[in-house]
Amino acid sequence: MVQALNSIEKVKINSNDGALGAEVLGLDNSQSLSADIISLINRSLLKYSLLIFRSQSLTDDDQIRFTEYFGKPEIHIRDNPDVETPGIFLVSNVLKDGKPIGALGNDEIGFHSDLSYLPKPGLYSTLYAIEIPIKGGSTQWCNNAAAYETLDSETKDQIHGLYATHQHFNKSLNPSTITTHPIVCSHPITKQKYLFITPLFTKNIVNMNPYNSKRLLNKLFKHMLSSQFIWTHHWNVKDLVIWDNRPTMHRREPFSKESRRIMKRTQTFCQEPPTA
Ligand code: OGA
Ligand code: MN
Repeated sequence: MVQALNSIEKVKINSNDGALGAEVLGLDNSQSLSADIISLINRSLLKYSLLIFRSQSLTDDDQIRFTEYFGKPEIHIRDNPDVETPGIFLVSNVLKDGKPIGALGNDEIGFHSDLSYLPKPGLYSTLYAIEIPIKGGSTQWCNNAAAYETLDSETKDQIHGLYATHQHFNKSLNPSTITTHPIVCSHPITKQKYLFITPLFTKNIVNMNPYNSKRLLNKLFKHMLSSQFIWTHHWNVKDLVIWDNRPTMHRREPFSKESRRIMKRTQTFCQEPPTA
């Protein structure tokens, strides 16, 4: 069979016209991408933080190859015994012989940035939809750069130079020393400032009493979670999504445990800790 080659002339990037994200049209990611297309996608990722490719028919190796254009897909730090391809991680509530085939079940997953509890957190994540529930299970992303930008100057001054702790609730996933990151980070490429705190993993502000720390974090979270910064993706089977975990955080809506949801995921990591 003659395979259609991807050509840059056919590629269109359509902004979601929402808080973040864009849809990429005209690419078949089961085929390789040329340097000019990779460069366009890289630039679009910096501009939109999240890209959606619909109707992709991908093998595990295709998803790994796609991820490799943007970094090294690492084996996830969690156990995920059921996948055959190193670097592919199953996010699923489906049971086989009474045991989950993947991770993360069917409950809500609160807003987080992937692996921020590590000194060098997740950078790009990809999710590829294999099976989706009829209802629920959508994923939301928050534009943490826009959230920072719109803070009043008093709050910007107040959080300047502060650090916060990031911890996973599953203690065995945390490093032996508690991870801290600046509350306001600068994107290493765009230099854009963004809030790097999340309701799921950020526990407290370093060198601040617990009461004031909680109050300030809650105030920042409330601002971040206002609808103008949030974009929701309602999944279709064969959607491939890639996002930059630095200026964003994401949340999964719950869905019925009677429904099946199977997503395949890859992960690249920051080569350096985030900096202010
Ligand atoms: C993840 C994650 C969300 C989803 O895999 O890190 O947050 O919608 N997944 O499955
Ligand atoms: Mn996640």
